Amino acid sequence: MKVFVSRKIPEIGYELLKNAGHEVTAWGDDRPLTQEELIQYAKQHHGLICMNGEKINSHFVNECRHLKVISLYSVGYDNIDIAAATQLKIPVGNTPDVLSDATADIAFTLLLMASRKAIFQHKRILNKQWDFFRPTANLGIELKNKTLGVFGLGRIGFEMAKRCRGAYNMDIIYHNRSHNLQAEDELNARMVSFDELLLQSDVLSVHTALTPETKGKFDYAAFSKMKKNCIFVNTARGGMHNEEDLIKALNENLLWGAGLDVTNPEPMSPTNPLLSMPSVAVLPHIGSATVEARNGMARIAAENAIAGLKGEHLPHPINPEVYK
Ligand code: DGY
Repeated sequence: MKVFVSRKIPEIGYELLKNAGHEVTAWGDDRPLTQEELIQYAKQHHGLICMNGEKINSHFVNECRHLKVISLYSVGYDNIDIAAATQLKIPVGNTPDVLSDATADIAFTLLLMASRKAIFQHKRILNKQWDFFRPTANLGIELKNKTLGVFGLGRIGFEMAKRCRGAYNMDIIYHNRSHNLQAEDELNARMVSFDELLLQSDVLSVHTALTPETKGKFDYAAFSKMKKNCIFVNTARGGMHNEEDLIKALNENLLWGAGLDVTNPEPMSPTNPLLSMPSVAVLPHIGSATVEARNGMARIAAENAIAGLKGEHLPHPINPEVYK
């Protein structure tokens, strides 16, 4: 059968698909496809491997109802109208687990960068501002024995909590819909209400999916409740925080700083005020950007596609209801 891959992915993905007997076409140009272009390609194929950020809405799904599988090359699936795909019995898969370490590493990196104003300090060198030692200038804050609050303690949140606990003996609190028993058992994590999370965290790290319920959850009211020295970290989706409100809250010193791997919109404008704030670190959505994670994602995306084309259950389905 024929599979369309909407952007270049690591070789292992193509190899698996070809070894399973499929014909693969990968979009090779150095620009994203428009939705209409993606629809046209998808129409000529039986299976699709697509990216986060590509709009797989009800229009897309209705136009491409012939697809036997939609396999996302990402763990997040906020770009897909899952209900529409499910209604048309199209299985949708994602790539969990393989990027948890890489993404937690970026959350931890951003935390350190914000706590020590690392990007700002680097810019001082570039701007010829590294002159002499000033005992009271350029100070950061330390993380030892502080409290990490995790909003959405799943696989990535767990890895971030492990890093903070191991490196700095941090207390772990979290806000979830249901208990994470492994985190409670292994990290002594405590589940708290959303308000308690805001009030008690020295570091608040976001690791949940973007849904109508979590969209804009971190707004001015939320930032106002945080500790003055709190560091806000978001490596999940930019839509979860209100960027204007974050800028206002930081300008008013309602919190210490922020570490963002995700912004709203993406890409962030180079003139965004967050980029010139000393205790803010922003990265261009590189959470899963390691050789290991991206190879793992290619493998799982291909395995999901191969299973879907055979009419078998996907190893990592987002909408297992299609099998009912
Ligand atoms: C994911 O997999 O969801 C990452 O954010 C990359 O899109």
